[in-house]
Amino acid sequence: MARAEHSARAHPPDDLQMNMKKMSLPSALLLLSGLVVSAVFAHGDVTPQTVDTAELEELTGEEVENPYRGNEKAIEIGASAYNQNCARCHGLGAVSGGIAPDLRKLPPDAATDEYFIEKVRNGVIRNGVTYMPPFADTFNDQAIWAIRAWLDTVYDEDA
Ligand code: HEC
Repeated sequence: MARAEHSARAHPPDDLQMNMKKMSLPSALLLLSGLVVSAVFAHGDVTPQTVDTAELEELTGEEVENPYRGNEKAIEIGASAYNQNCARCHGLGAVSGGIAPDLRKLPPDAATDEYFIEKVRNGVIRNGVTYMPPFADTFNDQAIWAIRAWLDTVYDEDA
């Protein structure tokens, strides 16, 4: 023990090693799991990102069918908007990790367009629990239709 104390003084990094050895296994695990939990919560707390839609044609807000279907610029803007705002729940590339529906399954048709814009504007809140946050305050319709235009490009009915 005397030897260990001596070398701890001589080499400061040994101090840390000594402390780690003194820490009981349960408290070391608690420390580690605390780090993991805070990382998960930090991830879930992402602030919605507004989307720059200046390069897209103006809309009236009355559209119930995607005015940008197949529009290259909209697809590009939509891909980035999706990654920043939706991927954390619906998965990168819209490949769901299981916590939210797989959006590749949504058929690229007019009926689904209307369903889509309503969902994204209002989110999904049931019995006071927010399953998906509403995006009406973050996005204009142009941003929502741009995301939908990108989603069409990854449509997969068997997903
Ligand atoms: C906090 C996680 C979360 C985020 C962020 C999120 N969603 Fe969702 N979304 C969900 C969940 C969970 C559901 C399923 C809700 C339910 O139980 O009905 C859902 C449902 C949907 C639906 C209906 C799907 C279906 O098959 O009926 C659409 C469309 C949708 N989300 C689009 C989006 C888009 C686009 C974005 C990004 C702008 C987004 N979501 C962001 C969690 C999220």
